Amino acid sequence: MPIEDAVGLLSLLWTPLVVVTASHEDERGGMIAVSAFAASIVPEQPRLMVEIQKRNHTHGLITASDRFAVNVLRRERWEWVRDFGFVSQAESDKFSDAIPWHEGPHGIPLLDDAIGTLVCRVVNAMDGGDMTVFLAVVEEAERLREEEPVYWSEVRPLLPEEWVEEYGRKLSHDVPDSASRMGEIDFRPWRGED
Ligand SMILES: Cc1cc2nc3c(=O)[nH]c(=O)nc-3n(C[C@H](O)[C@H](O)[C@H](O)COP(=O)(O)O)c2cc1C
Repeated sequence: MPIEDAVGLLSLLWTPLVVVTASHEDERGGMIAVSAFAASIVPEQPRLMVEIQKRNHTHGLITASDRFAVNVLRRERWEWVRDFGFVSQAESDKFSDAIPWHEGPHGIPLLDDAIGTLVCRVVNAMDGGDMTVFLAVVEEAERLREEEPVYWSEVRPLLPEEWVEEYGRKLSHDVPDSASRMGEIDFRPWRGED
C-alpha cells in the first residue's frame, strides 16, 4: 500500500481550528492548532489533548507554566489563521488592539471573540521529538456563543494568494525542521506539579 495516501487521510482527522494561548511571567503567546482533542468521558473531570510543535514560542510558555487555554475559533474570524498561524510571537506581538482579548487565570490571554475558551493545566505529556503531546485537565471553561466551529478545509480556499505563498514559505522551513527532529524522542516520563 502506498504511504502517499496517508497525508490526505490524516488531514481528514484534523480538529476544528483553535487558538492555543499561554503565558509565563511577563510573556504571552498564542497559536493556531488543528490538534485539540477531547480526552475524557467523565463530565465532572473534563480533559483535552493538544499537539504542540517545539519550535513554537507557545510551546516554551506551556512547558514553563504547565498551563494553556484553548480558544475555539469563530467561522467569521477565519482571518486569524494568519495572525496566529503564520508568524511567531517571537517575531511580532499578536496581542495588539486588533484582536480583543483579556487576561484570564494565571495571566493566560483569552480571546473575547471566540466560540468559547477552556483553561487547562497539564497533567502529563509525551515527547514526539519535534513536538509534544500535552494531556490537560480543564479547570475553567466559558461558552461565549452557540456557533459551529470552523475547519482548515473550509478556510484554506478563502486564503488570498499572498497568504498561500507566505504559509508555503513557513512550511518549507518547518517541515524539514520537524523531519530532522522526529527521531530524537526523549522517552523519560514527564513530571508535572504535585
Ligand atoms: C491551519 C494551521 C494549523 C496548525 N496546527 C498546528 C498544530 O496543531 N500544532 C502546532 O504546534 N502548530 C500548528 N500550526 C502552526 C502554528 O500555529 C504556527 O507555527 C504559529 O506561528 C506558532 O506561533 P508561536 O511561535 O507564536 O507559538 C498550525 C498552523 C496552521 C495555519
